[in-house]
Amino acid sequence: MEPMGALQRTHNCNELDQNFLGQEVTLMGWVLRRRDHGGVIFIDLRDRWGITQVVFNPEINPEIHAKAHQLRSEWVLAVRGRVERRPGEMENPKLKTGAIEILVDQLTILNTSQTPPFPLDEDSEVSDNLRLQYRYLDLRRPEVAAKLVMRHKALQTVRNYLNDQEFLEIETPMLTRSTPEGARDYLVPSRVHAGKFFALPQSPQLFKQILMISGMDRYYQVVKCFRDEDLRADRQPEFTQIDMELSFVDEHRIISIMEGMVKTLFAATIGVELSLPFAQMRYEEAIRRFGTDRPDTRFGFELVDLTQALTGCGFKVFNSIIDKGGVVKAINAKGCGHFSRKDLDDLTEYASRFGARGMAWIKIKEEEWQSPITKFFNDEEIAAMGQALDAQPGDLILFGADMPSTVHQVLAELRLELARRLDCIDQDRHDFLWITDFPMFEYDEEEKRYTAIHHPFTAPHEDQLELLDSDPAAMTSRAYDLVLNGNEIGGGSIRIHDPEIQEKVFKALGIEAEEAQEKFGFLLKALAFGAPPHGGIAFGVDRLLMLLTGSSSIREVIAFPKTQKATCLLTEAPAPVARKQLTELHLRPDWKEE
Ligand code: AMO
Ligand code: AMP
Repeated sequence: MEPMGALQRTHNCNELDQNFLGQEVTLMGWVLRRRDHGGVIFIDLRDRWGITQVVFNPEINPEIHAKAHQLRSEWVLAVRGRVERRPGEMENPKLKTGAIEILVDQLTILNTSQTPPFPLDEDSEVSDNLRLQYRYLDLRRPEVAAKLVMRHKALQTVRNYLNDQEFLEIETPMLTRSTPEGARDYLVPSRVHAGKFFALPQSPQLFKQILMISGMDRYYQVVKCFRDEDLRADRQPEFTQIDMELSFVDEHRIISIMEGMVKTLFAATIGVELSLPFAQMRYEEAIRRFGTDRPDTRFGFELVDLTQALTGCGFKVFNSIIDKGGVVKAINAKGCGHFSRKDLDDLTEYASRFGARGMAWIKIKEEEWQSPITKFFNDEEIAAMGQALDAQPGDLILFGADMPSTVHQVLAELRLELARRLDCIDQDRHDFLWITDFPMFEYDEEEKRYTAIHHPFTAPHEDQLELLDSDPAAMTSRAYDLVLNGNEIGGGSIRIHDPEIQEKVFKALGIEAEEAQEKFGFLLKALAFGAPPHGGIAFGVDRLLMLLTGSSSIREVIAFPKTQKATCLLTEAPAPVARKQLTELHLRPDWKEE
């Protein structure tokens, strides 16, 4: 190891080309590759920006050439030398620096390195666990680093856009009270107040509303949110939102400002010009046609309701489900009439993972409808189904029969699975879709009470206020989600700014006045001091970046992500702590030490 001394880097590893021929330069970086070509040693020197080839020639500088012999992968170097043109056949048009190389006359070894546990110079298959454990090495790989560069660019673009629109960036506390976004809280015990806990915010929801009451008018924050929930490829226990709130606006204004932001973002990051406005669809229609409130509209296979056509039909399974208030819906898998028995069994198994008790099917043939269940239907029912589904020879009809929520979930997933199997999704499409008019409430069968679909601060449509007492389930809210290619990338709403309505909504949610005071008293109080009409939205930064970079998981776009089991393999968190620390926090664990 040698000191850097007075050495100053003059250029980065992606900067030099023919325009610099003959210049003396100093580069610093890592050894990506070393090649020994009949005496001459070539090193690909890598830094965040790119790669430059540096050359050690024994005939020109034997001493430095000898020193270069010991260099290994990932050693850290400073090299000084002259920019030379590469011989014609050695040019690499794929690299920005591919026409030149540096003929080294001074080599400083700034650091050595152990042999990396996986190669960094190729697209080799490395297990996710190894990558996360050595995340610093993983991040040296250009394709991985590029995602962080893109993330930086995306956030800067968004910040600039919001700054131009007079938003203020304001930080809100991380040690706070629980906010009801629907997940379990991460709790932090208080040392000073025995038996009391902070919650890490699931979102800054209440603080941003209070900032509107404070007259800040437009707020944003790039902020961490914490939710202790079951993880999936698009969920992390801590994730980042671009969180926003605006005063004196309605949903149309918010939607148009957000569309401008997304358009600017896509142009700046991936050079895609989106056309505005984005499509909008009511929640009811999304569920009816796609079975989900985040439909991927890049392909068909829409759900068709056959309940009415099949009421009283001869197929007992369907009939008894309809009698119990269930529904029968179907998808026409166009052109899938050739699916084998095994294909159908696989799909049935797939459907069962989402609660399906079976998956009846019919193959539409030129001469007949082929299926074990065709015999149960009369001509009229066959004709009605054929028409509703636009069934043509060569098609395959897949059925779901159950209570609506199960049928919707099953068919929504089957739809996606079919599209994946047939590989019929146009990957170049960016289907943005606003989902609007969500129901205000959802009945929780287990808890025997209503819960808020968005969160309890979401405003109902004003003309439905009287339903708060009589029929809450029939109310729709002023909430909106933004969906991109079947992913929910953002969601928000117009808020309640009238303390009386807020109290009524709490009541409809089964939150009694006393409990409301205890949990949200500070909000109710603030609302009473001249709260302006306001609303907002939050975008999931990780999900957005996953889609912008074409990644398969949000872990790919987070510098230090957690595993599916909510652990950090780099730092090995969560980790045990000393008993003493627990006692200080007034915690008396009864588990055995490992
Ligand atoms: P919501 O709960 O819909 O709204 O969250 C907003 C967006 O955050 C992203 N998101 C997540 N991303 C990664 N991992 C998670 N566990 C996760 N959970 C949510 C999604 C989602 O659309 N306070 C409200 C916003 C508002 O009303 O203004 C809120 O948090 O992309
Ligand atoms: P069975 O009479 O139970 O043998 O079922 C006949 C066909 O109906 C099979 O293909 C089952 O997969 C299908 N089936 C059974 N229950 C359901 C359901 N709830 N939804 C859709 N198809 C079903």
